[in-house]
Amino acid sequence: MTYKLLLLPGDGIGPEVLESTKRVLGWYKAKRGFAYTTEEDLVGGISYETHGSPATDAMMEKAKAADAILFGAVGGPQWDKLPFDKKPERGLLRLRGDLGLFANLRPALCFDALKDASTLKPEIVSGLDILIVRELTGGVYFGQPKELVTLQNGEKRAVDTQIYYTHEIERIARVAFELARLRSGRVASAEKSNVMVTGVLWREVVHKIHETEYPDIQLSDILADNCAMQLVRAPKTLDVILTDNLFGDILSDEAAQLTGSIGMLPSASLGAKTADGRQPGFYEPIHGSAPDIAGKDLANPIATLLSFGMCLRYSFGRVEDARLLDKAVENVLAEGYRTGDIMQPGMTKVGTTAMTDAILKALDKLVG
Ligand code: NAD
Ligand code: IPM
Ligand code: MN
Repeated sequence: MTYKLLLLPGDGIGPEVLESTKRVLGWYKAKRGFAYTTEEDLVGGISYETHGSPATDAMMEKAKAADAILFGAVGGPQWDKLPFDKKPERGLLRLRGDLGLFANLRPALCFDALKDASTLKPEIVSGLDILIVRELTGGVYFGQPKELVTLQNGEKRAVDTQIYYTHEIERIARVAFELARLRSGRVASAEKSNVMVTGVLWREVVHKIHETEYPDIQLSDILADNCAMQLVRAPKTLDVILTDNLFGDILSDEAAQLTGSIGMLPSASLGAKTADGRQPGFYEPIHGSAPDIAGKDLANPIATLLSFGMCLRYSFGRVEDARLLDKAVENVLAEGYRTGDIMQPGMTKVGTTAMTDAILKALDKLVG
């Protein structure tokens, strides 16, 4: 089977971290018989500059036809003042929405070699392995109305709308419970049912799915603000965190810092199987385009490479291949290679390219 991959590098450090991924893809083709073809297209600010839109219909067609999509990052200060529908970030949101990628998995794992790299004490983060299951196609990101209007008196009014339907909560809850069965069997559902009616519905639906389909799982409710606090107080008390689109965005950046850097956190965005049995899969680091370090060979490529690892696992069922990549990253970190974001005294500072070289070498060593 030859898989069709769509590469969407995007803006800022996006092209740099996808360049690393292309090299690792090449390694998997040469050494592991992973057969694929790639197409590449524009998304985000670069697509706006070229086509006047952050996500063209032609790019969307390629995305729909691909077996998996590998994405870099979008955005940058030069596009911040564009009208809302032209912003680079809309390109990413269109992909998530139109492809129905409702389940966003964001694992936060603290590699042993990095337990001193976090801003938290090593005993708080060492051995950390949590999974944030973020709802990705609903909530305040997509709810209508979404508008900024100038009133007659000259004042402005901005409206974002948080909407959740029962079926949206049911399907993401099932994803979290299924994944929890493969892990510790614990799910913490984070919402704000104390102030939001969407939170009330969230809690009600999650409990219904739990009682009727997953009574073996230990479910706890946690208010999202408390969850943010627990993540830095005692993150290892948490395992699977099930949450909505906005809380998931914020909690995952926070969780990233427990692992040493946002440059370490991968993600997989999955949709429901299509009529012809395909599983839409979209893989991206959780970080952004990092305009402050773009174009300087400084970006940590690990989040993006681990996202490709998630692609091997979730889109292609190549679990052994995914484990190889995890192991190669672990070994390289143990050998002391560090990009600037995870740099520690006495370690070897490398850039994006040299970190990728080291990972390729570690992969070679692992297969002998
Ligand atoms: P950011 O994640 O781009 O950067 C935050 C900080 O983390 C910066 O100091 C950056 O240098 C650092 N950082 C991020 N990734 C890194 C990596 N791989 N290696 C080393 N350091 C890294 O977030 P931001 O600054 O808030 O946003 C910048 C732009 O990116 C904005 O336009 C935003 O909308 C966009 N953004 C895009 C995505 C995405 O495409 N998925 C995600 C988040 C933000
Ligand atoms: C992320 C990003 C995106 C989000 C933006 C760029 C639309 O922050 O993937 O975490 O808010 O979901
Ligand atoms: Mn984010």
